[in-house]
Order: sequence, then C-alpha cells, then structure tokens
Amino acid sequence: MLRDRIRYRPLMDKLASADEAAAYIKDGMTVGMSGFTRAGEAKAVPLALAERARKDPLKITLLTGASLGNDLDKTLAEAHVLARRMPFQSDPGLRKAINAGEVMFIDQHLSETVEQLRTRQIKPVDIAVIEAVAITEHGGIVPTTSVGNSASFAILADKVIVELNMSQPITLEGLHDIYIPSRRPARMPIPVVTPESRVGLPYISIPPEKIVAVVVSEKHDSSASILPPDDETRAIAGNLTDFLRNEVKQGRLGYELQPLQAGIGTIANSVLHGFIDTPFHDLKMYSEVLQDSTFELFDAGKLTFASGSSITLSADMYQKVLPRLAEYKHQLILRPQEISNHPEVIRRLGLICINTALEFDIYGNVNSTHVGGTHMMNGIGGSGDFARNGFMSIFVTKSVAKNGSISSVVPMVSHVDHTEHDVDILVTEIGLADLRGLAPRERSAVIIANCVHPDYRDALQDYVDRATVRGGQTPHLIEEAFSWHDAVRTRGTMRPA
Ligand code: COA
Repeated sequence: MLRDRIRYRPLMDKLASADEAAAYIKDGMTVGMSGFTRAGEAKAVPLALAERARKDPLKITLLTGASLGNDLDKTLAEAHVLARRMPFQSDPGLRKAINAGEVMFIDQHLSETVEQLRTRQIKPVDIAVIEAVAITEHGGIVPTTSVGNSASFAILADKVIVELNMSQPITLEGLHDIYIPSRRPARMPIPVVTPESRVGLPYISIPPEKIVAVVVSEKHDSSASILPPDDETRAIAGNLTDFLRNEVKQGRLGYELQPLQAGIGTIANSVLHGFIDTPFHDLKMYSEVLQDSTFELFDAGKLTFASGSSITLSADMYQKVLPRLAEYKHQLILRPQEISNHPEVIRRLGLICINTALEFDIYGNVNSTHVGGTHMMNGIGGSGDFARNGFMSIFVTKSVAKNGSISSVVPMVSHVDHTEHDVDILVTEIGLADLRGLAPRERSAVIIANCVHPDYRDALQDYVDRATVRGGQTPHLIEEAFSWHDAVRTRGTMRPA
C-alpha cells in the first residue's frame, strides 16, 4: 500500500514520525505549508509543532495557500507559534490573536504571495510542508484536495517535508495542473485560454533530494463550515439570476454566460446553488474554491467544467463526492492559486465574478474584511484578484447583519477592499444595483432604491440629501460618514437612538 504511494524508492528511507519531521522547523524560520480553505493542509506536522512549542517555545512565520482546516490555525495560535501569518485565514481563534495584536497578519491578494517570494521581496521560505496523495516514480509530489501555493513553496524552499495522507483517495492523482510562470520581465503568456486548458504537470516537480522527511498521516480534511441556503440567500440568488437572464435578453450574454467565479462562504455558495433552477446551461467555472454548489451544479447537469485551486466541501458532500471522484475527474482541474487567480487569465477568460461584502457604501466601495473598520474577519483572499480583472464584478451580501442591528449599506465603508472602480453590480435580498456606466451621484440613488433594508433607507437618503447640498463629485458629510459605525461601537446598533 505504502509502496504504491511512495513510488520513488529512495524516499522510503526518509519515513519519519511527525515529531521527527517537525524538529526540522526551527525558531525564527519561514515555513510554507500546503492548505487552502480547509482543504489539503499538512495535518500531522503542524500538530507536532504546536505540541513541541508548548514545552519549548518557538515562533515562525507561517505562509499557506489560504485558511487551514482541522483547527490548525487555532492550535498554532494557542501554542503561540505564529509570529507572522499570511496570506489568509478564517479561524475564530487565530482571528482573536490577530485582533489582539499577538499575530502579525499580512492580508494579501492570493495571486501575489509567490510572486513576492520568487523575487525575494519577502523573506524566503526555509522549509515547506506539503500534503501529498503520492510521490511519483521520479519524486514528483502529487498534492491532495488543494494546490494553493504548495508548488512554489516546495520549489523555493531549501528543505521539503511531505505528509503522505493515506486517507485521501488515489483517484486525486491526475487532477492537478501545476504550471509555474517564467521570470519577469520576459515572461511568456500563461497559456490558459479556456477553463479546461491543461498547461502543466500533474505533480510538483522538485529535486527529490530536497525531501528530508516523509510522514504518513490518515487525518481527513475538515468539512466546510457553510450554512445551507436560507430565504435571504435564495432571494439574493433570485435577484442575480433575474439580472443575468435580462443580460441574455438584451443580447449581452448567452445562456451559457461567461465562466463563473464564486467566492468563499455561505452566501456565495448559496448564490451559485441558485443557478440550478434557471435556464442557464453549459456553465463553466474558473474559480478559486470549489464548494458544494459546484458539485450540485454538476449533478443538475448545469455545469460542464470547473477549474479551481481547492475542493472544500460540507461533511455530507465530502462523503458523496470523494468516493465518486473518478466520475467527476474529466470535468475538474486544480491549479496553483497563482494561476487560478491570475489577473492575466481572469481578464482573458472574461469571468463573471461573484464575491461577498461585509458592507458596501452608497457609492459602491466594498469592505470584505474589517468589521467596524478595525477588526479582521478573514482577509481579502482572492476577491481582489477577481473583482478588479473580471468581465463583470458582482458583490453580494444580506442587507442587514446581527439581527438587523447593522446595515450592510453604509454612508462610507469603514475599510476599502474593492474600490468603486472595481465594482459593477451590488446585490442584497432586497434587490440589485447595476452601477455600470453610472457616476457616483447616480450610483447612490440606485443603491438606496434597490439594495438597502427599509429600516435604514430613509436615514441613508437623508444623509445623501444633506451631503449633496455641499456638492462634490462624491458628496459626503465627512464628520458624519462613520457615525453609523460609531453607533455600533457605542450603542451596539446602527438603528437611530
Ligand atoms: N458588520 C459586522 N459583522 C458582519 C457584517 C457587518 N456589516 N456583515 C456580516 N457580518 C458577520 C455575520 O454576522 C457573520 O458573523 P458570525 O460568523 O458571527 O455569524 C459573519 O460576518 C459572516 O457573514 P455571513 O453572512 O455568514 O457570510 P459568509 O459566510 O458568506 O462570509 C465574508 C462573508 C465576507 C466574511 C466572506 O465571504 C469573506 O471572508 N470574504 C472575503 C474573502 C473572499 O471574498 N474570498 C473569495 C475570493 S475567491
């Protein structure tokens, strides 16, 4: 069994326990680990590292693809292992440590981390820890349910630890397409010209001598923490699909639309699920995370192909999909996040990009990351890569949060992730604002009329009316612009006193 998975025989001599492998990680090192939105992370070595740090404190900079599963971000934060963390996380425990200033979190566009590493603009990776389903005859590392930044970490690191996960099905082999862009400024075009384009190798190619340890593990990916669709997310999906139907009617799109990208989380997953009951067909995805909705669309016969960087599923869907992976395989590719999120490819393919806002403002600026302007939620992830470069950039959110005490539409966003220049369409359960071709004064009218919860509509209209008297391309009452957020801080609600 093990020999089928470690096909490059000299590496059989490198079998090691998680503790032995973790001992290669020293205080002050920069460590690149596999893992992207709770999929395909190395599991045993980081746990051994956290255990060791409880007795023998050490600090590292941890780079991954995106968030880790199996509570690893929490466990590492609680063991005080993390001095710095990038480029994304979504764990409540780590979030707490970040917001307390204990962990320095660098919130970065997901396509950019390895570009900065490669050009030594950030500290190099000393050691990479990569989960694999197999090691090929030539020492190539076959990743599991995500690719993320694993390939470049393994290529750029001095040493590599492979975590061979025997619980991951061997049918994953052949799913990946590992392509590394050439050096700039003489870089050749990235040859991805359709979501189906296969342009690289099905494994990570490194000199096998760099592999210092192979650790066998059995631990499963943890399941996605998304909630099923509810009335509001169904309404958001309905508003968006009605709009897209009209685009077809106007002759701007066909029923196969353009390739779709959908962001992480409950809302984006539900919105994509909403495409099942529509006349759209032969859809394709060129996205980052493939969630439950991707497989629901496959099963409904709506989707013909999906390219992503990870597969992150709920517990039920995991049970259904992984044993049947061979059936889906011809319709799937997993790529490095640098390629799934690459501006060049996103612009070339003309993606319809659907991402989630925490809040947006009356002129179309979007905050996806900072609650109240200060406290990190998860990070920008790939939303900026996609929003800025897509064919159409759509942001969705519920019109209110926290039982209606917070309006998701505010006078001015308290933190800007996506500027008004990068946002085309805003959708809540109330309705949809099409901002294309509109100036700021026109945008505020459309947003207030279509997206704002009725409880907050008059107050926002009043704000705009008073601001407009003062004039400006983008009228504001600067002294009042954050008063809604301040009200949450002081009174716990944006509702008028
Ligand atoms: N103020 C304060 N809290 C807010 C809020 C606001 N305006 N809007 C939402 N929230 C809270 C919700 O109450 C919820 O809190 P809880 O976890 O305590 O229940 C939490 O934010 C998540 O919101 P939810 O409505 O469940 O949405 P979601 O699961 O779809 O996540 C984002 C929404 C924005 C947090 C998530 O999509 C994200 O991190 N996006 C940024 C990264 C990204 O887009 N990546 C994809 C690129 S491919």
